[in-house]
Amino acid sequence: MPDTSSANKRLQWWTEARFGMFIHWGLYAIPARGEWVMLCERIPKEEYARLSSAFRPGKFDADAWVALAREAGMKYMVLTTRHHDGFCLWDSQVSDFTAPKTAARRDFVAEYVEACRKAGMRVGFYYSLLDWRFPAYWTGPEKDPEGWIQSLNEEWVEFVDYVHAQVRELCTRYGKIDILWYDGGWPHDARDWRAKELNETVRDLQPDIIINNRSGLPEDLDTPEQHITAFARPWEACMTIDDLWWGYHPGDPNLKSSMQLVRNLVRCVSANGNFLLNIGPKSDGSIPAPFAARLKEIGGWLSRNGESVYGCGSSPFGQMHLGHVTARGQTVYLHVMYWPGTEMCAAGIKNRANRVRMLATGEEMPFEQARDRLFVRGLPKKSPDPIDCVFAIDIEGSPEVAEADFWK
Ligand code: GLC
Repeated sequence: MPDTSSANKRLQWWTEARFGMFIHWGLYAIPARGEWVMLCERIPKEEYARLSSAFRPGKFDADAWVALAREAGMKYMVLTTRHHDGFCLWDSQVSDFTAPKTAARRDFVAEYVEACRKAGMRVGFYYSLLDWRFPAYWTGPEKDPEGWIQSLNEEWVEFVDYVHAQVRELCTRYGKIDILWYDGGWPHDARDWRAKELNETVRDLQPDIIINNRSGLPEDLDTPEQHITAFARPWEACMTIDDLWWGYHPGDPNLKSSMQLVRNLVRCVSANGNFLLNIGPKSDGSIPAPFAARLKEIGGWLSRNGESVYGCGSSPFGQMHLGHVTARGQTVYLHVMYWPGTEMCAAGIKNRANRVRMLATGEEMPFEQARDRLFVRGLPKKSPDPIDCVFAIDIEGSPEVAEADFWK
C-alpha cells in the first residue's frame, strides 16, 4: 500500500503552488529547430557533438531566469538537466558530453540551483532516461540483452547503470531537490529502467522529493502533455507557448496569448491540477522577448488575482457559463471570462453569500441572492479585466450546488 499520508504532506507545497516554469535548454538551441532536431534531421552523433564547441552562452544568467519566473507568479522551476540528445548541463562524471567539459566550461545546473535557492524558488530537475547516442537504447534489452550493455568513454558500463549514476549525481551534488521530472522512458518499461530500485535510491537521498510518472511507475503525479486532462490524483499539465516545440524554435509564429495561458492555468486549478508552462531560451541563454512579455502579463494578472489560484482547487460548481470556478475553503472564485454586460447572474450556489469582491479592483460589490441565483448589477459594459475578471464570493459553509428547479 502506498503511504498516501506522507505523499500528501510531501505534495502540499506543490499543490498550493499551482504554477511552475519548465525550461528546455541545451545544444539544440543553436540550430533553433526544436529539441528533437538531432533525431528529426538524423544528425550523426559526432556531427551533433560539434555543437558543444559553439555552446558559449554569454547571456546565461540564472538569476534573470528565476527573476522572470517570480515575476510571472511561478512558484517552482523544472530545468532540462539532460534531454534526449545526451548533453548534460551539469558536470557528470560518467559522460564527457557535458557543458563543463566543453566550450561553455560552466555547470549550469549548479548556477540554476543557486539562483533558485537565493530567491526561495523550488528546484526541479528534468532528466531524460533515454539518450539517443546509445545504440542500446534503440535495440532495447528484449531484442538484444547483451546490447543493453554499451561502451561509453572507452569504459564498459551498462546503459542503465549510466542512467542511474547520473540520477544519483543529480540527487547528491546539489543539496535539496524538490522535483525529479523524468521523461523519455519509452518504449522501454519500468522494469527495463530498473525504475523501482532507482526511485527508492532517489527517495533515500531526497526524502521530500516529488517524482513524476514518466519512469514507468505512477509515483507522485500524472503529466498530461500539451493538453489539460484532469486525473483523480495529483496532476500537472505541461505546455509550450508555441505550438509544438519545447526547445527554442523561432520558426513557429503561432504563440498562445497571455489570455489563453491564464485561462489554461485557471482551468487546471479548477480541476485540481498544476500548470507547468515552458520556455525555450536562446543558445546565448537569454529568454526570447515574446515569451518574457507573456510571462510578465500573466504575472500582472496573478498579482491582482493570485488568491483565486494559489492554494485553490476545484468546486462542486464545475464550469459555469461565465467561465471556470475555483475555490478555497469558504470562498468561491468565479472566473468571468465571458463578460455578461452590466448584470451578472451566477446560478446554482446553494450557500448563502456574505460578501462579493471583484479582485481586479479590490472593490466590494453589492449583490442579491434570489433562491439559487446570485446577481451582481451595475457592472461596467466591458470587462475590467478581459483576461479573466474574478469575483470572490465568501459563502457560509462549504460550497454546495442547489438542484435546478426553475421549470417548476
Ligand atoms: C516529450 C518530448 C520532449 C519534451 C517533453 C515535455 O516527451 O519528447 O521533447 O521534453 O515531452 O513534456
